Amino acid sequence: MCGIVGYIGEEQAAPFLLSGLEKLEYRGYDSAGLCLNDNGELVVKKAKGKLKELKTLTDDGKNLHGTIGIGHTRWATHGEPSDVNAHPHLSTSGRFAVVHNGIIENYLILKEKLTEKGMVFQSNTDTEVIAQLFEYYYQGSLMDTVIKVLSKLDGSYALGVLSRDNPDEIIAVRKESPLIIGLGNGENYIASDIPAILSKTRTIYRLENDEIAVIRRDGVQIYNLDKEPVHKEPEHIEWDVDAAEKGGYEHFMFKEIMEQPKALRDTLHPHIQDGRVVLDEIHLTAEQIRSFRKINILACGSAYHVGVVAKYVFEKVLRIPVEADLASEFRYRDPIVDDKTLTIVISQSGETADTKEAMKEAKRRGSHVIAIVNVLGSAIAKEAHDVIYTLAGPEIAVATTKAYSTQLAVIYLMAIYFGDLLGKISDTEYKCYLRELQMIPDKIQQILDNSEQMQYLASQLFHAGDVFFIGRNIDYALSLEGSLKLKEISYIHSEAYAAGELKHGTISLIENGTLVIALATHEELIGKIVSNIQEVQARGAYVLCLTTEKHQELKSVAQSTVFIPQTCDMMLPSLAVVPLQLFAYYVAALKGCDIDKPRNLAKSVTVE
Ligand code: F6R
Repeated sequence: MCGIVGYIGEEQAAPFLLSGLEKLEYRGYDSAGLCLNDNGELVVKKAKGKLKELKTLTDDGKNLHGTIGIGHTRWATHGEPSDVNAHPHLSTSGRFAVVHNGIIENYLILKEKLTEKGMVFQSNTDTEVIAQLFEYYYQGSLMDTVIKVLSKLDGSYALGVLSRDNPDEIIAVRKESPLIIGLGNGENYIASDIPAILSKTRTIYRLENDEIAVIRRDGVQIYNLDKEPVHKEPEHIEWDVDAAEKGGYEHFMFKEIMEQPKALRDTLHPHIQDGRVVLDEIHLTAEQIRSFRKINILACGSAYHVGVVAKYVFEKVLRIPVEADLASEFRYRDPIVDDKTLTIVISQSGETADTKEAMKEAKRRGSHVIAIVNVLGSAIAKEAHDVIYTLAGPEIAVATTKAYSTQLAVIYLMAIYFGDLLGKISDTEYKCYLRELQMIPDKIQQILDNSEQMQYLASQLFHAGDVFFIGRNIDYALSLEGSLKLKEISYIHSEAYAAGELKHGTISLIENGTLVIALATHEELIGKIVSNIQEVQARGAYVLCLTTEKHQELKSVAQSTVFIPQTCDMMLPSLAVVPLQLFAYYVAALKGCDIDKPRNLAKSVTVE
């Protein structure tokens, strides 16, 4: 949701800023811009479209001069994607330049007031009011101005600010939107995320809410809103640089699909010791766990789809009622949650605004919160009572794959762990579940080794206009993810439907040649889904059926059949999702779509 990068040092800033933005493009890519202090003037270049437009405009940064600068890649919230709405934004006199990630909720009131005072606005963005506020309140002290401006802003922000009168400083502040500071030798950096600065340094500070960083060539000072220095320990980033590179693959998404066996092994490994599930991150006594009357799962998008799978899994294994809730809905519906409710939040980025706020709401109501998060030290990870990290590594493609799979793996670990603690599973079941879980990475590898089948099917079906994903029980939960994956990257309209629900309305949309992807892995309901397949075929549908190896008979039912290895029923989504990811990927590739950066999307959604 917008990427910020900044540099101050002895080198020309523009090439580094562009390479940093390249690493952040996943956060937004409808326009980009740079501002450099060139001999006392703040010079801005910005361009609508992907970063390559800005690169062309600036001749790869060669025609922008200066050793201090800020850059931005945008995901539009206020004002359409355009040159003028692109960041950085300058104040009326050109004295201040601002890049912003987040939303200023009271910007209209501020804009009106500033317009009355004679400020001239160029863009339709909320961000421009910040630049104008700096100009309006500046009386010689940059720090006082920052504090004054922040006191006027409602909403969320990470900001990078350049001041013409302070040519040797970048100001960085944040509230709710992430921002890190990279520490170099004679040069320092700011960025929305680690990959942007990884080529330069592995030593960072994570800025916290309401902290103000003054970044100079020879050091970084951090203050609170009372202008008192804040002491921070620098953090060392262990990441492998290659993890944030494509490594020979054409797209990050394909690389990340292929990385799933490793991501799963990495996630499972620390939590399985001597044949037992170990979840030391959960700080709850057995008695507390027994006291829960309900589990609430809060998440957005694909992470929510993991929550829907978890509902089926937990209810079956633990016999506790589970609600999987869209975080954006939960927040505003006066939810029935108390200290007898266990809340589980799921988020790859750990920064999703809706999920974060829903989590706070659950906490306010007395619920214990366990977060399943991929990004270390992210806001959700920090604010939850307990956090279980998925060790998927950096996920760059906008469409999630390996994070989804590792989140599912954690759900299975939790089901086994709680099932045992609550006495809901026998010793034999415990051993069986754990054995099956440990075999999932190898079975995924088996599916990946056969990816040509999905490539072939994609080549036969990529012209589809509308696609229906149908399934029952846990296959319905999976169909939600299959459908989202396909539509978000290939732009083919698709819907996920509980197979039994189709005949209550939607079946009227089925006509000759409509593609229906039927998920038929749930053993108990194979007969039922076969009936649903026949119902849609009778109306002309072309059915691609995904089932387990043992159901070879389905070959004669559907027009095309894909088989996945067998495992226990509740873990089948871990396997079945992989052909669906591959199908979406190959269809999007055949349609020539921008797979890693689908239109209108961004990786980390830090606005409501
Ligand atoms: C879809 C996708 C999104 C995210 C959603 C939540 O492929 O990636 O639907 O799952 O935006 O994001 P996180 O998990 O970062 O909270």
